[in-house]
Amino acid sequence: MAAFEKHTQTDIEKAVLWRISVVLWGARNGLKLDGDFVECACYKGTTARIICDAIKFGDRQDKRYYLYDLFDHDPTMPHHTMPEHSKELFRYVKDRFSDCGNVTVTQGSVPQVLATVAPEKIAFMHIDLNNAAAEIGALDCLFEKMVPGAVLVLDDYGWLGYRAQKLAEDPWFAARGYFVVELPTGQGLVIKQKG
Ligand SMILES: C[S@@+](CC[C@H](N)C(=O)[O-])C[C@H]1O[C@@H](n2cnc3c(N)ncnc32)[C@H](O)[C@@H]1O
Repeated sequence: MAAFEKHTQTDIEKAVLWRISVVLWGARNGLKLDGDFVECACYKGTTARIICDAIKFGDRQDKRYYLYDLFDHDPTMPHHTMPEHSKELFRYVKDRFSDCGNVTVTQGSVPQVLATVAPEKIAFMHIDLNNAAAEIGALDCLFEKMVPGAVLVLDDYGWLGYRAQKLAEDPWFAARGYFVVELPTGQGLVIKQKG
């Protein structure tokens, strides 16, 4: 709660306390596993910043946290604009993690940017792209890198406003023998299995 109080700025951020709590659970589980953490996408970095404080992630020698976002918006881009999108947001987020040398903030479009910067093994992943095609692209690139026992949180899975994501993700997971559990927060949850 101390990290949450310190780093949430808006009513919208304060309203997603339970969602952040679920992300924290997945991150704590990931600390026991081999591999790094991923967030596609981080926007202002608020959730990742809270997680870093809560688990003292900056002190970890064995893990990196990979954060991705476009950080900006123009009408040619398929994602919807958000209030803080700007030319300056990338720099703001980098500065926000300046005390955590093991956090890598990358500007670019998921999934294409993952060909340039991505971990080898993933111990926790949070996908929050608000865009079905981009989320499937992220899963195509990254799900196989998740180690057994790693938690995947799909932020918008159950929300009617993002229905296209659930409709794309259910068959994607079914084809691989997985079912997503929908949480009361609207998040979807998957735990990576062996094999
Ligand atoms: C809801 S926000 C993420 C909030 C963040 N996960 C948090 O909890 O604080 C969604 C973000 O997805 C980003 N986004 C959408 N499509 C993207 C893409 N193809 N590649 C990278 N970022 C994308 C947007 O720029 C936006 O900042």
